[in-house]
Amino acid sequence: MPKIRDEIQVAPDKSISHRALMISAIAEGTSRIKNFLNADDCISTMNCLKKLGVEISNKKDEVIVKGNGLKLKESKEILDAGNSGTTVRLLSGILAGQEFLTRITGDESLSQRPMKRIVEPLEKMGACVKTNNGCLPIEIKGGNLNLIHYESKISSAQLKSCVLLAGLYADNITGFTEPEKSRDHTERMLKNFGAEVFVNGNTVSVRGKAKLRATDVFVPGDISSAAFFIIAAAIVKNSKLKIKNVGINSTRMGIVDVLRRMGSHLSIENKIEAGNEPMGDIIIESTDLKATEIKKEEIPFLIDEIPIIAVAATQANGITRITGAKELRVKECDRLRAISSELTKMGADITELEDGLIIKGPVKLNGAKVDSFKDHRIAMSLAIASLVAEGSTEIIDKECVNISFPNFWNIFGKMTK
Ligand code: S3P
Repeated sequence: MPKIRDEIQVAPDKSISHRALMISAIAEGTSRIKNFLNADDCISTMNCLKKLGVEISNKKDEVIVKGNGLKLKESKEILDAGNSGTTVRLLSGILAGQEFLTRITGDESLSQRPMKRIVEPLEKMGACVKTNNGCLPIEIKGGNLNLIHYESKISSAQLKSCVLLAGLYADNITGFTEPEKSRDHTERMLKNFGAEVFVNGNTVSVRGKAKLRATDVFVPGDISSAAFFIIAAAIVKNSKLKIKNVGINSTRMGIVDVLRRMGSHLSIENKIEAGNEPMGDIIIESTDLKATEIKKEEIPFLIDEIPIIAVAATQANGITRITGAKELRVKECDRLRAISSELTKMGADITELEDGLIIKGPVKLNGAKVDSFKDHRIAMSLAIASLVAEGSTEIIDKECVNISFPNFWNIFGKMTK
């Protein structure tokens, strides 16, 4: 197995790229988005916004968005969100503030994901929303919205952002409370665009009838994409890797906390602020890992990293227990089922719980033919598992990495040559 000794940059942050497009679209004036993530999910958001009358040009190094102000234009066609939950859920908040009717569809995976969670608050605010039994296609006709204070049972940045974006169209102040604080990119960016946003613990509020001012956004590297190579360097013996310019927002740092608990040598250098988002270089060295426990309270900080943490746990000494992670069953695929079935094929000792995983390590993995279930994060997790497996691994539908990290296989190939 080749050791990993490298310095890399990973894909720009997906969550921030979506928000930059949507918030620029409803701002007044022209915004420039630098280091935008040109990947399938964010292109879905871009195409939906274009159909809603927003002028967007996608140049090599930056995306330029000519904002329409809060009011968008009626689309003649149905919007297609592709594979992207963030596109549907965030855009629905904006569409709830528009007087016309919009329909959104998506691919097979997105069409099975729950949308009821956004229907409830948007209807309470006065929008008219129809779905197919809580799933896509969704139909939204909005207008003047009422303020609400929504107490959510789940921690979800997509749901929170949906309510906050709809709140921009309501009178006075709309609030959202969640059990644990989810990623806060929407709050940070709305502030940068001039909205009045108030944060108090797990409650966020926004003042409606806002006037957003165009501004430039720099998108840092995505810690969720970095996570694959962070774990690669942690588990492949004699490795040392530097990943430059990664977003280190505290609401996304669960992966770093977990790895440190597992005994990993990880440091962060060159910390700077880039447009209200912190960024730094992550340096990671391989070491013997020990098992850890991850409970419900920590899940929102590492929601997308659980499949790759499961891979690390197969190489760690002891029993890693992950609970309170039921939300993983309604991601791009059922990620608890997918990662446990495919790592089992590779020889891992992994038990699926209703809301989590139990993984015993360390185990020598074997190469196998494994399925990504067309889920980008499963494909990339299995690729990293293959680095510590004996024999070759074939990943079905491995091109699905284009959803969030189009350059993944390139970097992977160079690194492991
Ligand atoms: C995201 C929030 C998370 C995450 C998803 C992106 C976002 O989803 O899993 O990949 O950009 O707000 P939930 O908010 O539904 O947990």
